[in-house]
Amino acid sequence: MANSVAPLKAEQKTTTTANGKNTLTIVDNRTGKQYEIPIEHDTIRAVDLRQIKVHPDDFGMMTYDPAFMNTAACKSKITFIDGDKGILRYRGYPIEQLAEKSSFLETAYLIIHGELPTKSQYEDWENNVMIHTLIHENVKKFVDGFHYDAHPMGMLISSVAALSTFYTDAKHIFDLESRTKQTFRLMGKMPTLAAFAFRHSVGRPYVYPDNDLSYAGNFLSMLFKMTELKYKVNPVLEHALDVLFILHADHEQNCSASAMRNVGSSHVDPYSAVAAAAAALYGPLHGGANEAVLTMLDEIKNKNNVPAFVKSVKEGNGRLMGFGHRVYKNYDPRAKVIKRLADEVFEVTGRNPKLDIALELERIALEDEYFIKRKLYPNVDFYSGLIYQAMGFPVEMFPVLFAIGRTPGWIAQWQEMLLDSEQKIARPRQIYLGKDEREYVMMGKREDSGNEGKAGL
Ligand code: CMC
Repeated sequence: MANSVAPLKAEQKTTTTANGKNTLTIVDNRTGKQYEIPIEHDTIRAVDLRQIKVHPDDFGMMTYDPAFMNTAACKSKITFIDGDKGILRYRGYPIEQLAEKSSFLETAYLIIHGELPTKSQYEDWENNVMIHTLIHENVKKFVDGFHYDAHPMGMLISSVAALSTFYTDAKHIFDLESRTKQTFRLMGKMPTLAAFAFRHSVGRPYVYPDNDLSYAGNFLSMLFKMTELKYKVNPVLEHALDVLFILHADHEQNCSASAMRNVGSSHVDPYSAVAAAAAALYGPLHGGANEAVLTMLDEIKNKNNVPAFVKSVKEGNGRLMGFGHRVYKNYDPRAKVIKRLADEVFEVTGRNPKLDIALELERIALEDEYFIKRKLYPNVDFYSGLIYQAMGFPVEMFPVLFAIGRTPGWIAQWQEMLLDSEQKIARPRQIYLGKDEREYVMMGKREDSGNEGKAGL
């Protein structure tokens, strides 16, 4: 993978000015001094602000940006999002085209390697991923050790972290051969770990991988096979799952990708970094929102209650789950694909009765001034839970499915970070607002201040 800066794409160009100057002039009114800061890609480098000081021994000016609302932490060539226009592209290819024409394994290759594979590259890739689907018998014993009601996402996070103890060669992160090997293993074993976690949670025997089947087909077999000799994969459900994996494969610098990059920047092995990324995904603000959509639809109960529910959301009682996005201020392009996919799945599984409520919610919300003004549109989670549920997945498996789909994105983000000569161990600054230096007081001499236990929260 190259580590040079790509030629600028139309969307990323630095705005050209009439006077040709690509600098920002800052006047520090504390000192009257003026600074000329270079602009590249419509961005200034935060370290360029450090020269702004009142006294020579000052640390220098910093920026304060909790939750990274307006700070680019990397240059990336993987995924492009234009939230206002509702555009998502992997390596330049529109998500709609990939969802229609590609397969998950091909898209994963594209995301990780930067280009679509040729036929022979694809065959090698598919073969290498599929021959790594088996897990060590000791990993199985490890999964066995979980309590009967353990959440499958907790099991997935722990078992993928445990892989680092089985593949000690994974610590050679700057060795391309080792990275390639771990990539095959992660892509191959994530569905197996996920399926074993599911089978454990429902008390069924584990089903070993069947590499005659496709990536998605094999996953369905490991999940749902009972006593039959060979699992018969339903092609519609197999295709739907494959497309859902494609739609979740990367989403630039989201919480879990940032966790992957941050943890990986300490040069830990990729299994430990993927476990951290998956842990970030587990949270309800990231990978858990589709479960909240189903809970909301259950609460609404039927279509006639939708207007009253929307009214109460507008009055500040909760949120319309599956609506709104930090980046998309337009219809999430993934939600459009999923909505179409839902019809295909329901042809096979029967219509999820909650779909009518969801459609009515969307219709009313999209005509309502409150949602229009705030640019709140359905996001990827609005319809995905309905499909997963119709396919027979319990809600606990939703973030696990997301994690399988997101694995190539995590690998690509990790690798790009490692090969970027500008990257170092992630280490944000802080604005220290705590106590100034003070003398230690012996325990017997300390007095009650009335706010015990609160200071550290
Ligand atoms: N329902 C009702 N009002 C909303 C909603 C919603 N779903 N989302 C935002 N708003 C309102 C919010 O109350 C605020 O109104 P006001 O300006 O009057 O205070 C305004 O819209 C802006 O909201 P915000 O919280 O500043 O927006 P944000 O960018 O910080 O939040 C979000 C993004 C996704 C957390 C939020 O839209 C939300 O909570 N949505 C519901 C949960 C959900 O569906 N999450 C899945 C996100 S997609 C999965 C992924 O990509 O990981």
